[in-house]
Amino acid sequence: MKRIKAIYPGSFDPPTNGHLDLIERGSEIFDELVVAILRNPEKDPLFSLSERRQMLESMTKGFDNVSIDTFHGLTVDYALRVGARAILRGIRAISDYEYELQMALMNRKLQPGLETVFMMPAEKYSYLSSRLVREVAELGGAIDCLVPELVAQKLREKMDVAHKFTAAGDAGRHDSDLKTVERMTPVSVTSERKHKSRKRKS
Ligand code: PNS
Repeated sequence: MKRIKAIYPGSFDPPTNGHLDLIERGSEIFDELVVAILRNPEKDPLFSLSERRQMLESMTKGFDNVSIDTFHGLTVDYALRVGARAILRGIRAISDYEYELQMALMNRKLQPGLETVFMMPAEKYSYLSSRLVREVAELGGAIDCLVPELVAQKLREKMDVAHKFTAAGDAGRHDSDLKTVERMTPVSVTSERKHKSRKRKS
């Protein structure tokens, strides 16, 4: 019998309940599903690749046919390398469709044998995106029903670093802390930092 393997590529920064919903749906129709996190050196993600991998591994440990991997380069090349026949992508609303269609058609042009399969997450997740989750977390809103508990915990840890930093100033902090803070609070912290460096110069 033919077994169909699919990949579910994305940034997952961070993974949300919407991603998990799609993984669950995908695991039911494909024999094997690989959640493939893009390693993109041009992006400055909030979570490192290994943090995202750990979160996704923990979120999906209940699914026998789901595995987590990372890749760089073209999605179609990665799909071919792992023997996948399909690319799974989620469509939440019409607004997603244009970009997703463009990507699916480009992928088909690059690799005609590979199909893109669109699935819709549950309506209750139709407004959910990693970008909005990051923004809500950054501004102190409740994120508990948007992401799995583990991810909420990790986001809170990032917030704690940011809050400690802004409360105490940057003396004695490590560069990695500063990077997190700047990533989480781009306006307030970087302007505070610029202000301090101006003071130091004068
Ligand atoms: O979660 P995202 O950020 O919407 O995922 C986008 C992703 C990773 C699927 C897309 O950017 C991608 O496939 N990147 C890999 C490079 C590639 O294949 N580009 C051509 C796409 S048509």
